[in-house]
Amino acid sequence: MINILIIGSGAREHILAKRLFASKLPKTLYCFGTNYNPGILPLCKVFTVGKLTDNKAIVIFAKQQAINLVIIGPELPLATGLADAFQVANISCIGPTQCLAQIETSKGFTRDLLKRYNIPGSLEYYRFKQLDGVLTQLQKFGTHYVIKADGLMGGKGVKLSGEHLANHQEALAYCQELLNSQSGFVLEEKLIGEEFSLLSFVSGSQLIHMPAVQDHKRAFENDQGPNTGGMGTYSAASHALPFLSQQDILYAQQINEQVAKALQKECQVTYMGILYGSFIKTAQGIKIIEFNARFGDPEVINLLTLLKTDFLELCLALVNKTLSQLPIEFEKAATVCKYLVPRGYPDQVRKGLTITIGCLPENVELYYGAIDQQNDKLIMTGSRAVALVSKADSIQQAATNIELALSAIHGEYFYRKDIGSTKLINQRIAHINQLCHQDYKLL
Ligand code: AMP
Ligand code: GLY
Repeated sequence: MINILIIGSGAREHILAKRLFASKLPKTLYCFGTNYNPGILPLCKVFTVGKLTDNKAIVIFAKQQAINLVIIGPELPLATGLADAFQVANISCIGPTQCLAQIETSKGFTRDLLKRYNIPGSLEYYRFKQLDGVLTQLQKFGTHYVIKADGLMGGKGVKLSGEHLANHQEALAYCQELLNSQSGFVLEEKLIGEEFSLLSFVSGSQLIHMPAVQDHKRAFENDQGPNTGGMGTYSAASHALPFLSQQDILYAQQINEQVAKALQKECQVTYMGILYGSFIKTAQGIKIIEFNARFGDPEVINLLTLLKTDFLELCLALVNKTLSQLPIEFEKAATVCKYLVPRGYPDQVRKGLTITIGCLPENVELYYGAIDQQNDKLIMTGSRAVALVSKADSIQQAATNIELALSAIHGEYFYRKDIGSTKLINQRIAHINQLCHQDYKLL
């Protein structure tokens, strides 16, 4: 019997739990989360709520339940060394140690690593811990710059010139705001292109790459508004995206491989977990936006919906370093995933709004995110509330399936209707065709 502990209680962890529960291997699931997720709760023998940064309490809980495999969902416990604590306790853990997790927790560390190891896809950047010298660099970048908090901000610490910062004065004010909240920052060139996520399972030197996915970080339609954790994602049956070549995919995969190698050399410790490369295809080729040390949320929902291999077998192969011996297969189908978020998200969100979910069609699955079950009511706690995913022959069909399912869901929520729409995807293809002088076919 394998006793598995899932750390975290959002939609990402809901699909992890669901796929582990569906494994043909004998297992019992446990969860240590921040709230009682109504989707995870019935799948677990014990569900404990506590602080994800309380390594001591989590390890004690794991020992009490004779846990032999841990999977860490969110970034926060990676940042505070939960994987290190499990290493000391001799319990197998999917999720890198604190040193390795710097690839996500410090944008400056990552940019320096890419530069030091000569990894392709780098861009011009400067790290700051004070305001001195910032204006000079801003003037060099002119109107094309990005300011990133050098720490974990849940995807919300990045501001772009033109979209979020109208001029250098506003840029300096944002830098000051970050300094006031004890955060250093990175100032970097703003790239123009189309973004994609490429995630890999990493077991030391063995990497298995997953299909490419496109996330939509902006809160509102047509990529307007503030950055969020991600409003929705799609993937294509080809496992590339409609504006990427196989060569682009290969290039990004090789970057993930080089980063995993450099990182392990730097920290002198084995990486066991997920490495998530966030890339942008530009006129100058594929560039790196950032790295994460975990499954993307919602990317994981597209990816595990497609995974044909038994997910628990895969997890065991990862921790046992036999990953390259396991045939890992993803279905050749398209997926679309959309988050429903409470009115006002992310900047003026109202907490405590209710949502009611009726009967959904069979071709749509639902995962609970920032939801609290209070008696028989579902309460949106203020972040991304519910994720819907559909798998179909085409991206358009998957998006239509979600649209139809929404008539069963009521409440003060909103979502991005444009994600997965022919119009938006064709805009992206046309953008790359014009930018890179290519000829990708419109949908
Ligand atoms: P990050 O948290 O680093 O992924 O940034 C959030 C979002 O900001 C990304 O998904 C991009 O849309 C945008 N972004 C970040 N860095 C850059 C950059 N150097 N150039 C253009 N856009 C960027
Ligand atoms: N979907 C973006 C993230 O997980 O950071």
